[in-house]
Amino acid sequence: MLETLWKIYRRADRPRPSMYKRDLPWNGPNFSERILSEHLDEGHGAASRVSNERGAQIDWLWQKLGLFKGARLFDVTCGPGLYAIKFAQRGCRVTGVDFNPAAIAYAKDLALSERLASLCTFVEQDVRELNYDGANFDAAILLYGQLDSFDRPEAVTLLRQIANSLKSGGKLCIEILNQAEVDKTDSTWWFTDEQGLWADEPFLHLGERFWYEDQQMSVERYYIIHLETGQMDEVFMCTQTYSVEDINQMMKEAGFSTVDVYPAWDKLSLYDADEWMVYVAEKR
Ligand SMILES: C[S@@+](CC[C@H](N)C(=O)[O-])C[C@H]1O[C@@H](n2cnc3c(N)ncnc32)[C@H](O)[C@@H]1O
Repeated sequence: MLETLWKIYRRADRPRPSMYKRDLPWNGPNFSERILSEHLDEGHGAASRVSNERGAQIDWLWQKLGLFKGARLFDVTCGPGLYAIKFAQRGCRVTGVDFNPAAIAYAKDLALSERLASLCTFVEQDVRELNYDGANFDAAILLYGQLDSFDRPEAVTLLRQIANSLKSGGKLCIEILNQAEVDKTDSTWWFTDEQGLWADEPFLHLGERFWYEDQQMSVERYYIIHLETGQMDEVFMCTQTYSVEDINQMMKEAGFSTVDVYPAWDKLSLYDADEWMVYVAEKR
């Protein structure tokens, strides 16, 4: 245990974002099941929003993306398919991609139990390796800030891959953090738990957050100390933020023509709506 504490003591002072894996271990063994429980927990909206908020978003997306019965919808980082299934219930043919094996297994089971399997395709894949060129989807969604977790070149590549998967005139909706609203301070915190996202046994979580003004991004570093074994995990989570001008530029580079911007989820009643910017872009 002493060795673990020395490792923390000797940690890099301000971790440079490029030095580390940037995101949560969404597809890691055990973590993937534990995060699935968080997606499905209706007591909070940490991994996926709760069902009444999703319902409001789905009505909004239906209208803004011009969806219709029979439309082909691409859900990029679909998680456990909680949105995809609802669109399938309205008659859309949905393809969902995510690299969390537990979430994809859940989405497939849900499609079967809802008798929607013929309308739903769920694929376990890293979206940085996406290739649906010429798939001619009518619309695509990339929700809950996942684009912010990639670095800028990865984000542009992903937007381009999505553009390539859409028909001409097809629409993409992305939801990312509102740069103006993001917390731009450094902070530290800690908590203990019997079990939770980080472990099935008691653990101590030590968290630090660093804001990089020059890059307009935050890096969070977590040390999780497993109290029964003394082992420690080190996890980083990077969040890149973008201005409206950045996103307009990136969308144009990726192959979209018009980009509509909706601050605060167009005033939908979501508990954290003010933190978000939603963009709807049309493929050239
Ligand atoms: C915040 S959750 C949102 C899930 C879903 N869109 C929702 O709102 O319910 C982010 C999702 O992105 C997925 N994800 C993160 N990085 C990914 C990658 N490189 N490839 C595929 N999926 C990824 C995670 O597994 C997780 O399901």
